[in-house]
Amino acid sequence: MSQLIEVRDIAKSYRQRQGSQTVKALGGVSFSVQRGEVLGLLGPNGAGKTTTIKTICGLIVPDSGTVTIDGFDVQRERLKALRSISAVLEGNRNLYWRLTVRENLEYFAGNRGASRRQVRAQIEELLRQFRLADKGNELVNHLSRGMQQKLAIAVALLAGSEIILLDEPTLGLDVEAGYEVRQLLRDIANNQGRTLIISSHDMPVVQDLCQRVVIISGGRVVADDQVSNLLKLFATRAYQVTLGAPLSSAQLSRLQARFTASIDHPAKTVVRVNLEHGEDIYELIEILRLERTPVEAIDRTTINFEQVFLQVINGAKPLEETHAL
Ligand SMILES: Nc1ncnc2c1ncn2[C@@H]1O[C@H](COP(=O)(O)OP(=O)(O)OP(=O)(O)O)[C@@H](O)[C@H]1O
Ligand SMILES: [Mg+2]
Repeated sequence: MSQLIEVRDIAKSYRQRQGSQTVKALGGVSFSVQRGEVLGLLGPNGAGKTTTIKTICGLIVPDSGTVTIDGFDVQRERLKALRSISAVLEGNRNLYWRLTVRENLEYFAGNRGASRRQVRAQIEELLRQFRLADKGNELVNHLSRGMQQKLAIAVALLAGSEIILLDEPTLGLDVEAGYEVRQLLRDIANNQGRTLIISSHDMPVVQDLCQRVVIISGGRVVADDQVSNLLKLFATRAYQVTLGAPLSSAQLSRLQARFTASIDHPAKTVVRVNLEHGEDIYELIEILRLERTPVEAIDRTTINFEQVFLQVINGAKPLEETHAL
C-alpha cells in the first residue's frame, strides 16, 4: 500500500479574538495514512483534532508544515489534492438546510459523468441503505440530528471520493442513531476500499472501526500505532492485586504517589495498577511489604481501549518496549 495522505510537521496558532495573544492548536503534527486504511484521530477536547482535519481538507492554512494527498500539496496544488477528499465536519456544514434530503443528494451527485438514471438509482439505494427513504422529501432543517448526520455521510459517499474525513461522526447522537452510523461506517470501511480518517471521543467506535490510531494531545502526536498493538502493549502492564488486609494510610499515599492506582474495597482490598515498566512490580511489592500486607493473588487484567487512551494522554508512553515479567 502506498502513502495516500502525508501530514508533515503542521503547526497552527489561532489569534485570540481579543488582544494579540495566540493559542497554539498544533505544534508540529506528522503522520501518514495508507490507501484503504481506516485511521482514528483521537485526543481530549482541544487537542487539535478538528484543526488537523480542516488542515487536511484545505479549510485551514497551517502556519508551517505541509499536507500532501496522493503526492499533491493541499496548499500549492489545491484542486488536484482535494479532488479525492470529502469531509463530514461538525455541524453538518456540507448540507443545504433549505433543500430536501433528495435535493441535497441530487445536488451533490453533481456532474460526475453518470447518467441521470444511474444517479437516481444510486440515490434511491443510499436512501434505502441509510434508512432515510421516508424522509426523501423532507427539508434538511426538519430532520433530527442523527438523520442529518446520516445524510451528511451519504452526501460524502455520493461524491465518490477516495478519502472521507469524519469529525466526530457519532457526537450528540442517541444510542440507536450512533449504532446505525457506526454500522454504516463499518460497511464503508469494509466494503468500499475507501480511506477514512475518523476523529472521535467514542472509544467503542474507534475500537470497532479503526485499524490504526493517531492520538494527539496538546497539539502533538503522543501515539501512532495499530489499535491491536496498543491494546497488547498496555494489557501487559495492567495488574490486579488482591490483598488479605486493607492498606495503611502510609501505604496508600506511597502507592498513589508512585502509581496510577484504583483501590476497591468490596469484600477484599483490590488494587488495580498500570505498570509502566515490568520491574515496577517490585516497587509495588515493596509498598505492600511495609506492613507485611498479605497478597492473595496477582492477576493481569484485561484492558479496553478507553483505558489505553486515558493512559496515553496521561503521559504513559506506548511505544517503548515493555518487559514481560
Ligand atoms: N477559530 C479558533 N479561534 C481560536 N482558537 C481556536 C479556534 N479553533 C480552535 N481553537 C483552539 O485550538 C485548540 C485546538 O482546537 P480543536 O478544535 O482543533 O480541538 P479538538 O481536538 O477538535 O477539540 P474537541 O474535542 O473539543 O472538538 C483549542 O485550544 C481551541 O480552543
Ligand atoms: Mg473538534
